[in-house]
Amino acid sequence: MGVVLVTGGTGRLGRVLLPRLLAAGHEVRAPVRRPDAELPAGVEAVRGDLGVPPLPARALDGVTHVIHLASGSAEGQIDGVDLAGTRALINAARAAGHPHLIYLSIVGVEQVPSPLYSAKVEVEAMLAASDLPWTSLRTPQFHELIWGSFNRPSAAPFVVEGRRYQPVACADVADFVLGLLTRPPANAVVEMGGPEVLEATELASIYAEVMGRPQPALRPAPESLGETRDALTTPSHREGRVTWRRFVEAQRDAATP
Ligand SMILES: NC(=O)c1ccc[n+]([C@@H]2O[C@H](COP(=O)([O-])OP(=O)(O)OC[C@H]3O[C@@H](n4cnc5c(N)ncnc54)[C@H](OP(=O)(O)O)[C@@H]3O)[C@@H](O)[C@H]2O)c1
Repeated sequence: MGVVLVTGGTGRLGRVLLPRLLAAGHEVRAPVRRPDAELPAGVEAVRGDLGVPPLPARALDGVTHVIHLASGSAEGQIDGVDLAGTRALINAARAAGHPHLIYLSIVGVEQVPSPLYSAKVEVEAMLAASDLPWTSLRTPQFHELIWGSFNRPSAAPFVVEGRRYQPVACADVADFVLGLLTRPPANAVVEMGGPEVLEATELASIYAEVMGRPQPALRPAPESLGETRDALTTPSHREGRVTWRRFVEAQRDAATP
């Protein structure tokens, strides 16, 4: 097996994926921008900031697969990291023997107006126009993202009233990505989703019931919601196994002394 390079290895999905890659016997390398970045023992860290390309030459040396998870969206760095950083990564991969580039995208990116979603559409077009072998995996929102937003009542609500969601556990996404490593590149967009489609209000009420907390606030629906109510779901793809209720119960149990 060759080396797998994982960008965004310190993020929600990366933290779950890296141990699975190691357990499956892969040699794993991860570019990190902070010297104190925490990675599992066995992952080779390479210092590198996607917002300040290029990555050091070592990053792509001997790499057969790139799993590109890094995103600057949390810091408003979509142009610099998601767009310019990904363009530089694609060029570096082309110069380093054309590894299979697996990109993490989001279900419904063409339908919901958002700078991040527009950037994802642009990156998929970059991949399609490149001569790299590639797969763009679109998933709905991670359980971990929704959980985090419900746990921060002081922050602006993330879940939109009136929208339907099909959230998926990072563990299930990571398992799906592991499967992609054993398959030829799709050279296309593929989708996977969580086990069930839930109303925004159901997400909030299950969280409140299981955690014994008040119902978290939802973001008011934009006027344009109508046609895009289901845009973030992919009902014919229910590969994820962990339901929202089970995920919340597991968080509650993990926090109980
Ligand atoms: N979260 C979701 O619900 C969801 C759903 C579908 C698809 N996705 C996509 O899946 C991917 C992973 O999502 P996630 O939620 O795991 O992401 P995340 O938790 O927000 O983590 C982002 C990662 O990107 C890294 N990063 C940010 N700026 C960087 C830079 N300039 N140079 C190098 N690394 C940088 C971060 O590193 P630091 O530790 O240094 O900050 C972190 O490891 C993203 O592309 C996201 O859009 C996410």
